[in-house]
Amino acid sequence: MIFDRVKELVAEIENSTVENKDQLEAFRLKYISKKGVVTELFDNLKNIAQEDRRAVGQELNTLKNLAQNRFQEFSAGIEAAGGQNQALQIDLTLPVPPNLQGSLHPLTIVRRRIIEIFERMGFNISYGPEIEKDWYNFSALNFADNHPAREMQDTFFISKSEGDVKDDVLLRTHTSNVQVRLMERQKPPIRSIMPGRVFRNEAISARAHCVFHQVEGLYVDKNVSFKDLKDTLYHFAKEMFGKDSKIRLRPSYFPFTEPSAEIDVSCFICKGKGCNVCKYTGWVEIAGSGMVDPNVLQNCGIDHEAYTGFAFGMGIERITMLRYGINDLRLFTENDVRFLRQFEGA
Ligand code: DAH
Repeated sequence: MIFDRVKELVAEIENSTVENKDQLEAFRLKYISKKGVVTELFDNLKNIAQEDRRAVGQELNTLKNLAQNRFQEFSAGIEAAGGQNQALQIDLTLPVPPNLQGSLHPLTIVRRRIIEIFERMGFNISYGPEIEKDWYNFSALNFADNHPAREMQDTFFISKSEGDVKDDVLLRTHTSNVQVRLMERQKPPIRSIMPGRVFRNEAISARAHCVFHQVEGLYVDKNVSFKDLKDTLYHFAKEMFGKDSKIRLRPSYFPFTEPSAEIDVSCFICKGKGCNVCKYTGWVEIAGSGMVDPNVLQNCGIDHEAYTGFAFGMGIERITMLRYGINDLRLFTENDVRFLRQFEGA
């Protein structure tokens, strides 16, 4: 009979639940305290026949341990929930937490914005390969055979040809390769922008990376002038950085353009007064540009007597850093969600 009683209590304890401190205390009084049922059974032990006493004692010990373990579990649960059982803490009337939404990468946001601005001016989009022949990346663009950019420290070569350097295979170092491919397959008028990924053999730091992105622009037609280049980039700067932006052209050199110019935009952070983004000059560089060198037109089968063109190239990382005040290139590729979440809804 006593065994039945023990069994009953085991089931009772196993099935019991405790949801608050009061219920915990009730549990303690009933199963643990000196006045509880388990102690009472122990007190009764002396009335049990001598030969059964040992077996009953063992059963009672098991029961006592079970009660104590359950009690500890219950009190830990209630403590963790700050006095309430966790089950009770769920407030079903609360609104559900919002699903975390993904966000566009800042480079995607800026690339799309650049494309949008140029598309409105009548530019279409072209793409070209990242693994490229020397011809498209260098030779057709008027780089001399011994130009230092071909050297190992700048270019990732995939295979060096036995014969002509023009057949070397490499990772493109700029998006200007797409200009050449475009001019080879399409006669003017050509008005296109060419976004893409480029590669250079650089040590990774806050200011340099071996993989980055550019947008190339090319406009070839009859009577395209340097003024068209200036107007186009001026319009771009106003759309991208604000309508009060000014641009400035500085003479420069690129093998594929003549004349060549570096494009600066007035610092949109300090409005030209001087700050650490513009290094207290009031201007920040955003692109290289120039009039397409007649040699390049000719290399691509376009009559350089009949046609002229302008070209430009800008770094998407650079523009993104300027626009969002980002000071380390490595953030773009680390995929730290604390960084990426800042662009939600941007
Ligand atoms: N390809 C140049 C670079 O990677 C950028 C550039 C400069 C592109 C002038 C052009 C240009 O089309 O006209 O640094």
